[in-house]
Amino acid sequence: MMDHQAKKLEELVASNEKTPKKSKKTRFVAITSGKGGVGKSTISSNLAYTLAQKGLNVGIFDADIGLANLDVMFNVKIKKNILHVLKGEATVKDILIPITRNLILIPGESGDEILKYSDMALFERFMQEAQVLDKLDIMIIDTGAGIGEHIQMFLNAADDVVVVTVPDPAAITDAYATIKTIATLRDDIGMIMNQVKNEREAVAVFEKIKKVADANIGGGLDLKLLGKINSDVKVANSIKQRALFSALYPSSIATKDIEQIAAKIAAKLERNVLVTSNESGLSGLFRRLMEHF
Ligand SMILES: Nc1ncnc2c1ncn2[C@@H]1O[C@H](COP(=O)(O)OP(=O)(O)O)[C@@H](O)[C@H]1O
Ligand SMILES: [Mg+2]
Repeated sequence: MMDHQAKKLEELVASNEKTPKKSKKTRFVAITSGKGGVGKSTISSNLAYTLAQKGLNVGIFDADIGLANLDVMFNVKIKKNILHVLKGEATVKDILIPITRNLILIPGESGDEILKYSDMALFERFMQEAQVLDKLDIMIIDTGAGIGEHIQMFLNAADDVVVVTVPDPAAITDAYATIKTIATLRDDIGMIMNQVKNEREAVAVFEKIKKVADANIGGGLDLKLLGKINSDVKVANSIKQRALFSALYPSSIATKDIEQIAAKIAAKLERNVLVTSNESGLSGLFRRLMEHF
C-alpha cells in the first residue's frame, strides 16, 4: 500500500524525532460531516475562539479550502497555504494568520495534495519550521464534508472526531453514512447537533442515529453526543457580517452551547504533559498523517 515516497517521508519524520526539545502535547480535534453546509466551519471557528478565550493556545487548520470557509468566518484574506510551504514558496511563519491573542489560523489543504511531496529537503525544512507551533494545546481541524480518502487521513490522525449534522432527514442519512465509514477507522466518535430547536430535539435525533448505528455497526462503537447548537438567526447574521457569533453575542444560547462543548473538549486536555516537538503542533499533525498513510 505504502509507496516509496510515503515511506521516505515517514523515515524523515522519524529521523526528526531525535530532537530532544520538549513541547506541549497538542490535542487534535477533527470536525467533519456527511453533508456540506451543516455548520462545520461555524462550529470550528467559534469553538477555536472560545477555547482561546479560556486561555488555551489554539490552532485552527483549514483542511477544506474553497469557497466561504474559515477565511470568511474570521474575515481574513488567505494568500498562501501549507502547500506553498511544502513547495518551498513560503515559510510556515508566512502563512500563519493570527486571529486573537491565543488563536492562530493555519491555511491548510484538503489532504490529497499534501502527501505528494517529492522534495525531501523541503519537507525536512517544513518539519523544522513547523515547530513554531509546538506551543499549541489544541488544534481544531475543519475538514471537508463526505468521506474521501484524504479526509480519512485527518480523521485517523485526530484524537477526537466530531461529526456535525442538522436535524433534516437528508443530513441525518449522510451523517449516519459518515459514521459508518469512520467506525471502520476508530470506535470513538462524537456528534454535534447543529441548528436544533432545543436540547430535546438534539437528544431525540442523536438517539435515533445511535439506535441505528448500534444495530447495524455494532462492534465497539462508542458514539456520544458532544453537544448541540440552537438554530439562531444571530448565528447566520454574524456570518454575513464576517464575525463570530460567540464574540458578537456572548450571552446568546448558541454561545452558551458552544461554551459547553468547549468545556468538554478542554476537560480532555492532558496538561503539563511534555512530548517531543515532533509530536506537537503542526509537525505533530504531519507526523500523524504520515503514520496513518
Ligand atoms: N446554529 C446555526 N443557526 C443558524 N444558522 C446556522 C447555524 N449554523 C450554521 N448556520 C448557517 O449555515 C451556513 C453553513 O454553515 P458552515 O459553517 O459554512 O457549514 P459547513 O462548513 O459545514 O459547510 C452558515 O452560513 C449559516 O448561515
Ligand atoms: Mg466549511
